[in-house]
Amino acid sequence: MDRRARHRIADLYDNHVQRRYVRGKLAIDPAYATTAALIAGSSLPLLDIGCGIGLLGQYLHARGHSQPYLGLDHDSRKIIAGTQAVQRAGLDAVMQLRHADAAELPAMHGHVALLDVLHYLSAERQRSLLQAASRRLAPQGCLIIRNVLREKNGYFHATRIAEFFLHASGWISAGPQHYPSADELRSTLESAGLDVHIESLRGRTPFNSYLIVARTRH
Ligand SMILES: C[S@@+](CC[C@H](N)C(=O)[O-])C[C@H]1O[C@@H](n2cnc3c(N)ncnc32)[C@H](O)[C@@H]1O
Repeated sequence: MDRRARHRIADLYDNHVQRRYVRGKLAIDPAYATTAALIAGSSLPLLDIGCGIGLLGQYLHARGHSQPYLGLDHDSRKIIAGTQAVQRAGLDAVMQLRHADAAELPAMHGHVALLDVLHYLSAERQRSLLQAASRRLAPQGCLIIRNVLREKNGYFHATRIAEFFLHASGWISAGPQHYPSADELRSTLESAGLDVHIESLRGRTPFNSYLIVARTRH
């Protein structure tokens, strides 16, 4: 995404800290572009769990995706900021943000995104969320997870330090609960009947981030 498009999205947000975050995030993090590529050409709706300020939806729309987008987040401040941005962009017809906990998923079927959210839940809540998310997949739907995985390396150490500051600054209201391992995620998703693909997805960030893509086994 070029600089002008990044600035256009950032300018939809009131708060200058959010605008700076949006510009930086869109410049260095490959998570949204990867999600866009995975759902390209599909008109299935997208459920974005832990959507924050709805940046994924804004990114997808700027890239020409027009499927319905529903984002959920339990942080009402982010939902308010994200909803204002949706209104400013004139996207009310295709994008909706809702204040809700990840435990309260709506009854819809399509694609599901879980970007950088899982580690804020306990191991047990991660398992039940992954099972619930699997049940929201349409037959051709894709569950797209991006998360830090627990590994013994410097990237994982850097992630833990960054998370400490994110929590301390108030950007994330509740700190990390449990960093999953690749095996934990794979076994939960495979038990739910999904095929699973895992690969590194750090981009230009210093974090131990991975892409986990799961699809219904046919
Ligand atoms: C690091 S942010 C990622 C935001 C967004 N997915 C993105 O990539 O732009 C994590 C988000 O998960 C949300 N979150 C954490 N626990 C949650 C829960 N139990 N229910 C709903 N949202 C949750 C936080 O409020 C935060 O907005």
